[in-house]
Amino acid sequence: MLNINFENLEKIDERHGLSNEEIASKSAQIAHYLEKIQARNRAFYNVFDDADLITEIKEYGDSVKGKFESVVVLGIGGSALGTICLERSLKHIFGNEKPDKTNPKLYVLDNIDPNLIREIDDVINYEKTLFIVISKSGKTPETIAQYFYFRDKTDKKGLDPSKNFVFVTGMENSFLRKIGEKENIKMFEIPKNISGRFSVLSAVGLVPAYLIGINIDQLIEGAKYMRDKFLSENFEENTPFKVAVMQYLLDKKGKCMNVIMPYSQKLIRFSDWYRQLLAESIGKAQNENGDTVNVGITPVSALGATDQHSQSQLYNEGPNNKFIIFIKVNDLGQEVEIPTLYPNEENFSFLQGVSFNKLMHTEQQGTTEAFTRNNRPNITLELEKVDEYHLGALFMLFEASTAFLGELYEINAFNQPGVELSKVITRELLS
Ligand code: PA5
Repeated sequence: MLNINFENLEKIDERHGLSNEEIASKSAQIAHYLEKIQARNRAFYNVFDDADLITEIKEYGDSVKGKFESVVVLGIGGSALGTICLERSLKHIFGNEKPDKTNPKLYVLDNIDPNLIREIDDVINYEKTLFIVISKSGKTPETIAQYFYFRDKTDKKGLDPSKNFVFVTGMENSFLRKIGEKENIKMFEIPKNISGRFSVLSAVGLVPAYLIGINIDQLIEGAKYMRDKFLSENFEENTPFKVAVMQYLLDKKGKCMNVIMPYSQKLIRFSDWYRQLLAESIGKAQNENGDTVNVGITPVSALGATDQHSQSQLYNEGPNNKFIIFIKVNDLGQEVEIPTLYPNEENFSFLQGVSFNKLMHTEQQGTTEAFTRNNRPNITLELEKVDEYHLGALFMLFEASTAFLGELYEINAFNQPGVELSKVITRELLS
């Protein structure tokens, strides 16, 4: 269902790759790292056990079924990236252009560019739009500015905010919570220890997902499957730990960038979700003892086969400072043949009888092989298909590997002092 193939690490020059012995060298410490994670944060892998929350989401979603043509998410960073990924991975690629009588269209406004704010006006009907305002802190300036704008618009149209708005927010000092309580706006809670980038399997991702017709039960089932692996002290079982050990040991060999490269159009925004998770969790100035360490791995998002024609030249021949994580999807969903139009054209005889599926898989194989021959460390995560179950497992795999990475670097993966600082400075500059 989700396998990890890391044999290419052993095939390449030992200065750039990893032997099985090197990878296994950390196996004796799994229990120690698990204990540390459990002491630090259990919320990110337990949040989806909250059966009351799931019932509440479904009850709310069912109560508004058929009432809205559009769902507009207002949120930024971790409050938006998971939802974007869910929609792009699990819904029709051109969903917003395709009539869907059952589910509303989803728009995620994860920026404050005035063009984005203004141009959404041209495609939504306010009366038939549900705005989901998502902010853990409930006071992020970008999100609150968006809320002010759309609330002003709906007020001027005489709409009832308790019908057209939903808030997903934290309990502590949240401006949104204050407004929600006062104005009887439906609210879903983000638990205390869930920061944005670890929130896709909380109300942050699940509320919009349910509203656009995603099977959240299956998403959670997949996450639970991977959680069992994550909590296993058996090294062979623990896929998240293995991935983290490879990232960590390769960073020590100078591979300070991780390229995540799914060969799947559906997973195009998965790489963006992971980019935030890795960057914000592991990029830290201080370790847990207060020493200055300035650690971090720079995440790069790429897409196969598209980026073979933009980035792979660099990966093959540029600085050997990258670890490439391919994602291969065995069943790409649609099966599409490439027709043979010019049977006598020798230059393209290799395409005869070949499907787009086969072409995609073969291009991935070719790219993997080229990187290996050039001593570029790479692994392949093999996913059966892109559906709710497998995506849930993939989210959990990377959340858990990031948690392990934090412990390997002896830093706190769950805070983001750097992001907080820029929020404070922006506020000061505007005051
Ligand atoms: O991962 C994080 O914690 C951040 O990226 C936040 O999600 C982002 O800064 C938005 O914060 P908030 O949800 O409080 O509006």
